[in-house]
Amino acid sequence: MRYAIVVHGGAGGTSPEAEQGCRRAAQAGAKALRGGGSSLDAAVAAVQWMEDSGRFNAGAGAVLRLDGATIETDAAVATSAGLQGVVGAVRDVRNPVLLARAVAQETPHFMLTGEGASALAKALGLAPHPGPSARALERYRALREAIARGDASLLGAGWSEPMAAKLMGLLGGDEGQVPHEGDTVGAVALDSAGMFAVASSTGGARAMLLGRIGDVPFRRCGYQVGVLGGVAATGIGEEIMRREGAGKVYQLLEMGLVPQAACEAVVKLFPVNVSVGFIALTGDGVGVAANCPMATHAIVKG
Ligand code: GLY
Repeated sequence: MRYAIVVHGGAGGTSPEAEQGCRRAAQAGAKALRGGGSSLDAAVAAVQWMEDSGRFNAGAGAVLRLDGATIETDAAVATSAGLQGVVGAVRDVRNPVLLARAVAQETPHFMLTGEGASALAKALGLAPHPGPSARALERYRALREAIARGDASLLGAGWSEPMAAKLMGLLGGDEGQVPHEGDTVGAVALDSAGMFAVASSTGGARAMLLGRIGDVPFRRCGYQVGVLGGVAATGIGEEIMRREGAGKVYQLLEMGLVPQAACEAVVKLFPVNVSVGFIALTGDGVGVAANCPMATHAIVKG
């Protein structure tokens, strides 16, 4: 395989717009690879495209927190050559994936969160967040109606309606303003030098308190990468962390499973009512599996 990239637009829903977005994001990554860029350049380019598009729950399209007013995002980058940078609960950053890359390449740290991460983004001149997208606000409206109907299933795994009502009351939020859907975006790429890279970015999943950080910035949970390949997860972060989802996919790759079989096997470890998906890439092929609709696209050049 000369180079390859696989991207996903998040577990829990897809649309022609999301499928097209994944295709264009993969093309942005492939363009970087064709131009001599590294797999890190490619994975970051693909995720940045999805963050900028506003079509996904990441970057410009990220959903709001339980307070109904705040956007906080998580992101991660990592390579099989040992580079790693992650950010959590970052406010006012349009492209958290660029901030994660900056943490890896321009600081001695591995993880930055909250105010410190936002301050670094500002110091580096990264673009500020444009504010809630029309798509994010539309989701609120739809969810508000669902909550009004007493449809607690939209709150997501681990939540009960009384718990959400209580926490929203404490936070001064509106009962109808509960974020919905968990479409993290992610990319795994391989370059001609044989290096794998993973990049992921998310506005979070379902109902979230301020300060909540999901699976995306945690190795073996939201991502895993090594000499065999790379894995990115999507879905309800707490459930992915509980089962160390991406790490389990990678373990199966180490045991000799092909990426498709490894992704499928780990999806089966999750209850059917917990949306989850994985993408994986090795030197031999691509794996994509989810227990719900998930937009993806892969480009492989042999
Ligand atoms: N998988 C995204 C999140 O739970 O934050």
